Amino acid sequence: MTFYEAVGGEETFRRLVHRFYEGVAEDPLLRPMYPEDDLAGAEERLRLFLIQYWGGPGTYSQERGHPRLRMRHAPFVIGDAERDAWLKHMRDAVDELSLPDELENRLWDYLVYAAHSMVNAPAR
Ligand code: HEM
Repeated sequence: MTFYEAVGGEETFRRLVHRFYEGVAEDPLLRPMYPEDDLAGAEERLRLFLIQYWGGPGTYSQERGHPRLRMRHAPFVIGDAERDAWLKHMRDAVDELSLPDELENRLWDYLVYAAHSMVNAPAR
């Protein structure tokens, strides 16, 4: 069984990413980085990416090509504060899934690692 299946498939990633963007929508540091009129596109891209990463359908790369996430984040200034804000909303979203500890820890460790690897600006 893939990790994607073990955590409950598409529905779980839909809930995770939707809850995450509810936090982003209210965040004074992060909200201005995203398209003004619409977070739905960003929500869909992150959901499809995570589904693909964890062994679900490869729709993300069919639509967007190779992820190359560091390159795709280059237009945005991501310092420690942005990373920590991103992780705070992700933590809230992960908590609401109430996954078994082992699955939760695997998901969370990846998100922490990925968020740290996306930092592209020195602390201000
Ligand atoms: C896109 C911010 C970390 C995955 C974006 C966008 C912004 C952003 C502003 C453009 C929104 C859009 O797609 O319209 C940030 C910030 C981070 C962060 C501030 C803090 C560390 C991450 C991490 C991941 C991720 C850790 C993966 C685990 C993605 C994906 C896209 C995206 C898949 C869409 C790429 C595409 O197909 O164009 N991010 N991000 N981001 N981000 Fe992040």
